[in-house]
Amino acid sequence: MAAVISLGGSFLFDKKKDTSLLFNELKKINEKFLVITGGGPIARDYINFARDFSLSEKELHTVGIKCTHINAWVMSKAFKADYTDTDPRKIKVNKKITLTGGYLPGWTTDTCAAYAAVSTHSKVIFNMSKEVGVYDKDPRKFDDVKLLKEISFDKLYTLTKGKRVPGMNFIFDPLAAKICKNNNIEVVVTNAVKDIQRYLEGKEINGTIIR
Ligand code: UTP
Repeated sequence: MAAVISLGGSFLFDKKKDTSLLFNELKKINEKFLVITGGGPIARDYINFARDFSLSEKELHTVGIKCTHINAWVMSKAFKADYTDTDPRKIKVNKKITLTGGYLPGWTTDTCAAYAAVSTHSKVIFNMSKEVGVYDKDPRKFDDVKLLKEISFDKLYTLTKGKRVPGMNFIFDPLAAKICKNNNIEVVVTNAVKDIQRYLEGKEINGTIIR
């Protein structure tokens, strides 16, 4: 068993200090962790660059996947952790911290995290994002937003449904949410590293629990 972390590319690139804090905290917690890194701005920039050379949609997704793996590999070197590019549906975790990235064109790293949580029998995914948690409305469009302590997968789905294009942004990908719902996996959306320990100890967290 392991706990899975979906380390959003936005967290990785916007919060370098917190990323160091995250890996140092994980080393102190008595649990194995599988960390799936997102692509972040390098994926979006590279997808746009490749789009200008008329690559197909599938190839553009592959560009995104390769960026997620660069991030995973770099983090594995930075924090002396394991790195793998195994299919998340078959992944096994033996080391304290293992890093990986995306897998199939058209998925997101949230989807990989959901499949990996199933294959490692994890009951939780920590979705590290630059947002504090999930709001009742899109914070980029509205000022009067309310942070939710909890939200159901069904309610989240109504907030996030739409077409999937390379490099698009989700709070938590709807396909990943469906896998989690079907397998009773909870998702903790947070930007606070301390929420991982707090959740594992059954304490109140700053972010949002999707269940
Ligand atoms: P993500 O969207 O998963 O990365 O992958 P991200 O940067 O973490 O996203 P944010 O920052 O949390 O929003 C980037 C792109 O790579 C492709 C998709 O095009 C995706 O939008 N990708 C990633 C795949 O096609 N398959 C995967 O398994 C993972």
